[in-house]
Amino acid sequence: MQKAPKNDAVPYVGQITDYFEKDAPKALRKLIEKAGPKDIIDPSYPYREVMSSKDYDARMEVLQQELAKMMYDLVATGKRLAVVFEGRDAAGKGSTIERVRENLNPRAAYIAALPKPSEREATQWYFQRYTEWLPAGGEIVLFDRSWYNRGIIERVFGFSTEHQRDLFFRQLPHYEDMLVSDGIVLVKLWLEVGRGEQLRRFLDREREPLKQWKLSSIDVQGLGKWGDYTRAIRDTLTRSHTGLAPWTVILSNDKRRARIAAIQSVLHAIDYKGKDPEVIGQPDRSICGGPEKLLD
Ligand code: ADP
Ligand code: MLT
Repeated sequence: MQKAPKNDAVPYVGQITDYFEKDAPKALRKLIEKAGPKDIIDPSYPYREVMSSKDYDARMEVLQQELAKMMYDLVATGKRLAVVFEGRDAAGKGSTIERVRENLNPRAAYIAALPKPSEREATQWYFQRYTEWLPAGGEIVLFDRSWYNRGIIERVFGFSTEHQRDLFFRQLPHYEDMLVSDGIVLVKLWLEVGRGEQLRRFLDREREPLKQWKLSSIDVQGLGKWGDYTRAIRDTLTRSHTGLAPWTVILSNDKRRARIAAIQSVLHAIDYKGKDPEVIGQPDRSICGGPEKLLD
C-alpha cells in the first residue's frame, strides 16, 4: 500500500492504513487491493463499473437545468424545500450536496451542517436547533446530517441515553408531520455505501492532502463499529419511513449514479413551473428505493 503523507494538523492520518493492515476483514482487503479505479467493489452492487464520465456529464447537464428551473419557481412562488442528506461516513453526502447546490442562488439555497450540540443546546428540546435552520419561503435548505444523528451516531457512540432516544422516536413522526402539513416539502435521502467502498474512500482521504480534513475521530472509531451502525440504521429508517415523510435509499458505491438518483428524487418531490418529468427520468430502481434497499 502507498503510504499516506503525514499531516500534523490531522492526527487521524495514518490510522486508516493501520486499521486496513491490522484489523480489516481479509476478504475486504483483497477486494480493495485488486480493484481498479473504475471497478465497483461490492459484489452485490448491480453494476460492475462506475458510470462513464460522458454519460454522467450529459445526464448531469439536463438535471442541473431542471434544478435551476425549480429554484426559479420556488423563489417566485415562496415554496419551501428541506432535503435531509444522511448516510454513513464517506457515503458521498458532501459531494452530492455540492452537485445540488452548485448552480443555485447561494442566498436562497444553503447547507445546514450543524456541529455537535453545545452544552447549552444539549439542554434544549432536541429538535430546536434544527428547527431554526428550516427554510423560509423561497428557500432550499440542504441538511448535511440532521436530527437523525440521535437514532444512529448518538446510539452507536453512546452520546445520548436510551430515554432520550425513546423520546426522539416518539416525537419524530409528529415533528415531521408538522413540517409537511405546514407546507414544507421534506425529502429524506439515505446514501448507502458498502463496507469495502467506505474503507477505500477513507484510504483515499488519508492519501490526498485536500481530503484529509474530512477525516474525524468518529470515522476512525467507526471503522470497528460497522455492525452497530447497521443495526441502528435499519432500526431508525424502518421506524421513520412514514407515508408523509418516506425515505429514499440510494446505493452510492457508484457516486455518479447516486448523485443522479439523488437529484432526480429531489426534482420529483416538488412541483415547479416548466417541470419536465421525461427529462428528469425515473430514478434507477436497481439502486434506488425504500429501506428494503439497505445492505446487510
Ligand atoms: P462528518 O462526518 O459529518 O463530517 P464527524 O464524523 O466529525 O462529521 O461527526 C459525525 C456527526 O457526529 C456530526 O453530525 C457531529 O455533530 C456528531 N457528533 C460528534 N460528536 C458528538 C457528540 N459528542 N455528541 C453528539 N453528536 C456528536
Ligand atoms: C460523505 O462523504 O458522506 C461526507 O463527506 C461525510 C463524511 O464522511 O465526512
